[in-house]
Amino acid sequence: MKKTVLVLVLGMMAPIFAPAASPPVAPNGVGYYPDYMSWKVIAPSYREDRGNIRIITGNEIAVTALRAGKNPLPDGSVLAKVAWKAESHPDFPSATVPGDFAQVEFMVKDAKRYKETGGWGFARFLGNELKPYGKDAGFVKECFQCHIPMANSDYLFTKMVKTP
Ligand code: HEC
Repeated sequence: MKKTVLVLVLGMMAPIFAPAASPPVAPNGVGYYPDYMSWKVIAPSYREDRGNIRIITGNEIAVTALRAGKNPLPDGSVLAKVAWKAESHPDFPSATVPGDFAQVEFMVKDAKRYKETGGWGFARFLGNELKPYGKDAGFVKECFQCHIPMANSDYLFTKMVKTP
């Protein structure tokens, strides 16, 4: 009986606490990948001008290919870059740690579909609301422009972090 009540109460709460029913989609049709935090770590990074701590992760296809030194990466590869506001640890100020969530970005490989942008579909989702970035599909020009200098490494800045 108790269990039934609990299930009922939880069921009623779900719409309040559950994240938006349908995951957000960027203006170019690239969707949000909710699993990116359980993907493998490619590398952390820190951008001074933004004061952001980031982690770059990749799905199985991407990480297997990167480890094997594949270039370009095969279709189905997805990389995520998640960023938090950097802040001082309250109990150890010289340690810089992640604070509020800032944004998450994705690069999705489909050589044919995203031919115009090096085979990569770009997407950015801002803040806790995961608001899709860009007023129309043209926002990808901004992403691609800055990634073009990395054409020799399949438009990717990040390499697998070194470990023994
Ligand atoms: C002004 C330059 C610039 C722009 C614009 C830019 N990026 Fe990047 N991007 C970088 C740099 C530099 C890195 C390397 C890691 C870092 O900055 O933390 C990177 C890394 C990434 C990564 C991880 C894979 C990699 O290449 O290392 C993803 C995913 C990504 N960017 C997505 C995007 C998306 C989506 C957009 C557009 C909405 C975008 N980027 C726009 C400079 C840029």
